[in-house]
Amino acid sequence: MLDAARIGPKSQVLDVGTGTGDTAVLAAERVGPTGRVIAIDASAEMLNVAAESARASGLDHIEFRQMDGGKLALEPGSVDAVIGRHSVQFLDDWPAPLTGFHQVLRPGGRLSFVVWGRTTENPFMALPVEIPKQLGWPPVSAAAAPFSLGDGQRLRQQLVTTGFDEVKVERVGFQTRMPADVALANRLDSPMSRAAVNNASAEQREAFQKAIRSALERMRDGDSVLVAGVTLLASATR
Ligand SMILES: C[S@@+](CC[C@H](N)C(=O)[O-])C[C@H]1O[C@@H](n2cnc3c(N)ncnc32)[C@H](O)[C@@H]1O
Repeated sequence: MLDAARIGPKSQVLDVGTGTGDTAVLAAERVGPTGRVIAIDASAEMLNVAAESARASGLDHIEFRQMDGGKLALEPGSVDAVIGRHSVQFLDDWPAPLTGFHQVLRPGGRLSFVVWGRTTENPFMALPVEIPKQLGWPPVSAAAAPFSLGDGQRLRQQLVTTGFDEVKVERVGFQTRMPADVALANRLDSPMSRAAVNNASAEQREAFQKAIRSALERMRDGDSVLVAGVTLLASATR
């Protein structure tokens, strides 16, 4: 994502939905002391963690601001790059936020973000979406939000329609291992799982947890769970 955004020394970067600030710190290391990173998030709690992590890394050219990524309060044409990892799909009224990204970029500036692919391509991540389906429950849109931009062709078209050039949407597959207990805690306690069982009875919650356990058993290899999936890397030029 940072390569696709062509971030280098002196770049002015906007990190949308920075969360705990991982990508802002990586971008700040690349831009160096003559560049600047503006890291925004809707959540003050996330920003506090992010600011602490930047301090621990000794970086003082990241500006953390609480801001809605769909309503950017920034000067038009003021940044060289807009980035976002697993965050832009949560912005309201998509694809309208793309217009905001286009406006804050200078001509020739780069947009680059990563989102999850389709639920069917992400069996581990999508358990809180697929299990309710298996159990015959009505779909919960909050649980499926992380996958809302998973259709690469549609995303590509939205970028073109907004007026971006050099539009590219690449599929990036990944595979990793997670200790089985960590994988179980990760899936049982994710915001997606909480959304999926939000209105469920105690019995339904139990059925949900049992189904998650069995699904993870099928992905198990020794003490670990094999986690495979597909993300989309979207990039474009203003
Ligand atoms: C899954 S986290 C990803 C965080 C980070 N980018 C990362 O990769 O670690 C999604 C982040 O988007 C933020 N977010 C959600 N809606 C937002 C909005 N409307 N404006 C700004 N940030 C938002 C959340 O607070 C959260 O920190």
